[in-house]
Amino acid sequence: MKKAMVCVAAMLFLAACNSSVPAPKASVVFSEPLPETEGELLYLDMKCPTCHGHQGSGDGFFSGGLQPKSVDFSSAEIMGPIPDAQLKDAIRNGKGGVMPGYAQFTDHQVTELVRYIRSLAHPPSN
Ligand code: HEC
Repeated sequence: MKKAMVCVAAMLFLAACNSSVPAPKASVVFSEPLPETEGELLYLDMKCPTCHGHQGSGDGFFSGGLQPKSVDFSSAEIMGPIPDAQLKDAIRNGKGGVMPGYAQFTDHQVTELVRYIRSLAHPPSN
């Protein structure tokens, strides 16, 4: 019985596919590249660039008034010596009274954010 219902559902689905609904356009053009990793998606979604900038260089549109300023994530020289634990702690608990803490992130999300931040350094520091 269950099998028959699945079969009917599949047939209806196929019938719908064959109907005259126009196929989606083959190429959709986005004005910016899509996020490629979970870390990048979180970085954008949580608005980290407002302060840290899209390239991580600390030039987000809020950055002018920030005191202290953020380190430059795009510099391998600066980021290299900073341990993951320090970056994770800043993300979880905030830093310097300016960087907000994001206690809601899972360990996995914090790890992915750190991985993404490190990928911004030139040459990459991970
Ligand atoms: C309101 C502005 C603001 C926002 C939004 C913000 N940050 Fe920050 N962040 C800062 C500032 C300023 C510092 C430097 C604080 C200090 O050095 O005392 C900082 C520090 C950090 C550090 C620590 C760097 C170090 O020196 O150890 C990390 C990692 C970080 N931010 C990641 C993020 C991520 C990821 C997000 C988004 C989820 C984010 N920040 C959102 C302002 C911000």
